[in-house]
Amino acid sequence: MALAAEDIVARCQAALDEHTPVLAVRDVLDELVADPVGLEHALGPVESGGIRTLHHDADLTVLHVAWTPGMALNPHEHRMWAVIGMYGGQEDNAFYRRVAGGLEPSGGKEVPAGDVLVLGDDVIHSVANSRREFAVALHVYGGDFFSAARSEWDFGTYEERPRDFERTRRIFEEANARWREQP
Ligand SMILES: [Fe+2]
Repeated sequence: MALAAEDIVARCQAALDEHTPVLAVRDVLDELVADPVGLEHALGPVESGGIRTLHHDADLTVLHVAWTPGMALNPHEHRMWAVIGMYGGQEDNAFYRRVAGGLEPSGGKEVPAGDVLVLGDDVIHSVANSRREFAVALHVYGGDFFSAARSEWDFGTYEERPRDFERTRRIFEEANARWREQP
């Protein structure tokens, strides 16, 4: 039977019962991203960048995320583990650590389609899509992504402020508008 969005969520939920949920979720995403055609069939084609919630409760959030070509999301933290399974394009992660008065860059990682990235709960990262195609992924978090209190920072100034989803939504909207205007 063809893979459906509910199956993806059910497999992530089952992974929470394993001894080390974050690693069990990684294994689930490893298997899923090996079949990008099956995932596209289950989740639909990507026509614009954005975040779609497939599931969220107190223990688990599953998001379908498409980064628009050319967009970059400023540094932020999750305060819960996260597993990113790429199945289209590539996302470029930059990492940071807290220092007095802000952040300091601390390396990065390019995650191409077919790769899975595990982020510990204290990770601070920014994400960019430098390619001319959507970067498409499943993002799975070990908690309620939308309710946890956490911070984000400006690019450049590294000034800390509370995470602002409205601002994130506008970043997607502006990137989508720029991409649609491309010749
Ligand atoms: Fe993130």
